[in-house]
Amino acid sequence: MDAAHRPAMSPVAAWVVSLAATVASTYALDAVAAATGAGLVASGMLGDLGHRSVVAFLLVSYAAWAFGLRAGLRANGNLLAATGTSSNVLSKLAYDLTRRRCGAGSAARLAAAVAYTGTEIAKEVPYYLAAFGAAAATDAITTDEALIFLGGANLGAALYEGALARLTRTVVGRGHASFDTDWVPAEYLTDYYRTVEPDEIATIAFLVDAMRHAEPDQPVLYFGTGPTLHHVFACAETASEIHLGDYLPENLAEIQRWIERAPGAHDWRPFVRYTLRCEGNPCPTDAEVTAREDLTRAKITTIVRVDARHPRPLDRSYPTVVSAYCADSATGDRATWELFMRHITGLVQPGGLFLTAALRRCRGYTVGGKTFPGADIDEGDLRAALRPHFTPLREGVEVVPTDQHGAHGYAGILLCGARRAHPAGTLRCG
Ligand SMILES: C[S@@+](CC[C@H](N)C(=O)[O-])C[C@H]1O[C@@H](n2cnc3c(N)ncnc32)[C@H](O)[C@@H]1O
Repeated sequence: MDAAHRPAMSPVAAWVVSLAATVASTYALDAVAAATGAGLVASGMLGDLGHRSVVAFLLVSYAAWAFGLRAGLRANGNLLAATGTSSNVLSKLAYDLTRRRCGAGSAARLAAAVAYTGTEIAKEVPYYLAAFGAAAATDAITTDEALIFLGGANLGAALYEGALARLTRTVVGRGHASFDTDWVPAEYLTDYYRTVEPDEIATIAFLVDAMRHAEPDQPVLYFGTGPTLHHVFACAETASEIHLGDYLPENLAEIQRWIERAPGAHDWRPFVRYTLRCEGNPCPTDAEVTAREDLTRAKITTIVRVDARHPRPLDRSYPTVVSAYCADSATGDRATWELFMRHITGLVQPGGLFLTAALRRCRGYTVGGKTFPGADIDEGDLRAALRPHFTPLREGVEVVPTDQHGAHGYAGILLCGARRAHPAGTLRCG
C-alpha cells in the first residue's frame, strides 16, 4: 500500500506507537552504532592507517551516514503521511504542529525532516564524549582509535538508517511508489495521455453516454481528476459549473496551466475530438474542438485540493460526481479503497448521479517507471461498495478488457454509473 493512503490510526494510538518506536529505535541505533565502532577498533583492521587516512575514513563515514539519513528522512516522511506515526517523536511533533498550520504538504514534511535530522545530530554527541573522553582518560586508547570508533559508529548508523528505511518502505508501501514523494504529473501525462488509449476510448464513450443521466445546469464535481482534463470535456455542455478536485497541488497546478494556456501545457485536443465523436459528431472540425475547450475553460469555476481519507472531503454535496481511477488507483489496500469510496460517494446528493471508472484486478500501475498501488478490485467489489446507497444505471458495472498489461500493468477496466437513493420516507418531485 502506498505511503499516502493508509487509514489514519487514532491520534492517541499514533503517539503511543511513535513513542514506543522512538525508544526501540534509539536503543537499536545505539547498539548497532556502538558495536560497529567498537568492533572496528577491536579488529585492528584500520590500526595501521596513518592519521591522515584515519581522518579521511572518518569523512567518508560521515558521507555514508548522510546517505543513510537521507533514506531515513524519506521513509519517515512517508510513514508520517501514511500513518501519522514516526520512529522519532520530535519529528512527529514538528510534523503535526506544522500540518495543523499549513496542511500535510511539503512544509510539514520539511519540519519533520529538520526535527529528525536535529535529533540524529544530537545523538552523535555521546559518541564524541565517549570516544575522546576515553582517549583523554587512558593511554590505552589513542586519538586515531577514537576517530576509527567514530567512523565505525557512523557506518553502523548508516546501515541502521538504511535498514530502517527499507523496513518502513515495506510496511508502508509494500514497495509501491508514493503520491507524496514520487508522483510527477508530467510523467503521468507522457505515459498515458499522448494518444487516446484503449481504456480511455471506453471511458470517454461511457462518460459521454452516462452524462445524459446527469441533471442539467447543475455543478459537476470531478474527484481525483489528477493533472488531467480528458474526462471533463464530456460534461461541459451539461454542467452549470465544473469543480475539479485532487489530492496533489502539483496536479491542480498542471490543470491551471492548461486553463491559462501556459506554454507547454498538455494538449488535450485529441481527447476533445474523440469526446465530440462520441457525442455523435463524426468529424469534428478544429473550430469545434477549440469551442469545446473554451466552453470547458469557462465552466471550470473551482479547483480544490481534496483528500479521500477525510470522511467529508468537501463541505458540500453535488447532484453529479465523477471519480475515475481515483480510489482504486490511490491505494493497494482493499479496506482503504472501500473507505475512500464511502467518502467520495458521500459527496453525491440524494437522487444524484455517481460515475466511476476503475482499473480491474490491478495491484499496481506504472508511471515514470515507478509502480503506484492498485486496489485489485473487480466488478463484484464495486457493486458491493455501491450497494447500500446506490442503484447502478441500466448497464450495471461494465467490464472492458483493454489489454494494456504490458504497457501499464492492467488488462481491464470497470465502468459504472449509479444513482444515489433518497433517504427512506422523503418526498420526491418529478
Ligand atoms: C491514477 S491517477 C488518476 C487521475 C485521473 N482521474 C485520470 O483518470 O487520469 C490517481 C489520482 O488519485 C489522486 N489521489 C491519490 N490519493 C488521493 C487522496 N487521498 N484523495 C484524493 N485523490 C487522491 C492522485 O493525486 C491522482 O491524481
